Amino acid sequence: MIAAQWFFIVFRILHIGAGVAWVGSVFFLVMFVQPSAAAIAPAGAPFMAELLGARRLVDRILIIASVTIVAGLILYLRDMNDAGGFGDFLGTNYGVAMTIGGVTAIAAFLVGLFGTRPAVQRLLALGREIASSEGPPSPDLPAEVPTLQVPALQDLTKILARISLGLLGITIIAMATARYW
Ligand code: HEM
Repeated sequence: MIAAQWFFIVFRILHIGAGVAWVGSVFFLVMFVQPSAAAIAPAGAPFMAELLGARRLVDRILIIASVTIVAGLILYLRDMNDAGGFGDFLGTNYGVAMTIGGVTAIAAFLVGLFGTRPAVQRLLALGREIASSEGPPSPDLPAEVPTLQVPALQDLTKILARISLGLLGITIIAMATARYW
């Protein structure tokens, strides 16, 4: 096997391996972890704080997503080059399917980076505020404000995670079927 083939085999393994871990993590979070934490609330709060705070789950998923995207873009450039350029690649059904899959995956990554990540950070900060609110109430922020914001932020993180999962579902259909169109 020539060296260039090994290079792309390594990128395919990285791409598909990281993609499986990315989608699997979001799937597990949406389908099992979030409903379980909600079902046993408020007992699930320390578990979620450990998972999202100390273990930095969102940051780690975003790192795995970056590996998927970078390796995917390298494979995309190779396929585009083989097809004779961007226009020619988009002239094939394979190219269109790969492009749709790539764009929806990158959109899911952006939802995580600019939506889920700041919302989770705010939730963790509110959790710390509530935990330390045994002292005298702050004149700027009435004691009940952090508590009132928590359910809205929890709902937002659930919606954002479902949007990400939906976009990744489109990616999987596109990537898995691209060569058959
Ligand atoms: C969660 C996200 C992703 C998953 C699960 C995923 C999954 C896959 C799978 C299973 C294949 C193999 C398809 C086959 O051989 O028939 C593949 C190929 C490919 N993916 Fe993705 N992908 C993801 C994101 C992306 C992104 C963001 C890009 C970048 C534009 C991309 C570009 C490609 C390309 C160009 C190929 C063809 C590789 C080749 O010709 O050897 N993928 N992907």
